[in-house]
Amino acid sequence: MSSIEPRALRDAFGAFLTGVTVVTANDAAGNPVGFTANSFASVSLEPPLLLVCLARTSRNFETMTKAPGFAVNILSEGQKDVSNTFARPVEDRFAAVKWEKGPHGSPVFLDVAAWFDCSTESVVDGGDHVILIGRIENFENGNANGLGYARGSYFTPGLAQKALSMAGAEGEILAGAVAARDGAILLVQLADGRFSLPTFALAHGESPRVLAEKLEHDTGLPVSIGFVYSVYEDRSHGKNHIVYRGELGAGDPRTGQLFRLDQLPLDRLVDTSTRDILTRYANESRLGNFAMYVGNELSGRIHPVSGKQ
Ligand SMILES: Cc1cc2nc3c(=O)[nH]c(=O)nc-3n(C[C@H](O)[C@H](O)[C@H](O)COP(=O)(O)O)c2cc1C
Repeated sequence: MSSIEPRALRDAFGAFLTGVTVVTANDAAGNPVGFTANSFASVSLEPPLLLVCLARTSRNFETMTKAPGFAVNILSEGQKDVSNTFARPVEDRFAAVKWEKGPHGSPVFLDVAAWFDCSTESVVDGGDHVILIGRIENFENGNANGLGYARGSYFTPGLAQKALSMAGAEGEILAGAVAARDGAILLVQLADGRFSLPTFALAHGESPRVLAEKLEHDTGLPVSIGFVYSVYEDRSHGKNHIVYRGELGAGDPRTGQLFRLDQLPLDRLVDTSTRDILTRYANESRLGNFAMYVGNELSGRIHPVSGKQ
């Protein structure tokens, strides 16, 4: 008996940053089938080979392993919904995407970062999965950035790059947190009665740890700060905002109030940006997927941000 706990192992595998693909084929009746997979890897250039791992529990297991070929579609940053659709038991998954038959016959998607139309080279046993090895018969490399996936969340490296390129301007940085606990979010009430995300002015180069310390000081609760959630410039006030996702520890906050996501005071928020952020957060948390900006430095250090691009 192995002492490795599968759930914990899956979480640890999630530390590896990947892209997201949809693997497609045709069933015996010629109908398209497909599923979301991030277990894609390039294998060989000569001969041209790739691999993807398929769960034995997949409803498409027979079709996928017996098909003469399959295609791998590398999703682009705007195709998070496509990923979700092909990971859920949706009746007609292909209604969610523009697609056509590839040169070798498997469905290939439009607007993807790239696709590879393959013949099936071999199907290798891999425990509770099989490894589908495909020989690339045709491929197309688009211009779009790929959608990223890490620790159960999607991320958009291209957008992050944009945010990074906005860095370097003068001006005050306001760092805020969407600080959550058990499906509720901390908001603070301003003197005029409206609500805001907890927000603090940070100096150029200060790390998100400073944000956590300030928030811990105000709320009296432990706080951990996670990924960057939003970077934007408030032109009307000449302020640059960076908003992180955060987690609050147990206890009643000394300042601020916890609001359940279905009871957010959306008509009493300080500005429309805060409303946009909270609405997006509520939607994404319902789906269990958070979009985020990431950058090699942005996620570790605060940079000033302007609207210049
Ligand atoms: C980001 C992401 C990556 C996934 N990667 C894989 C994978 O590599 N292999 C796999 O078998 N399932 C993977 N899944 C799960 C399948 O997409 C999911 O179980 C799907 O419902 C299978 O559909 P099917 O049973 O119709 O084949 C992934 C899901 C998501 C959201």
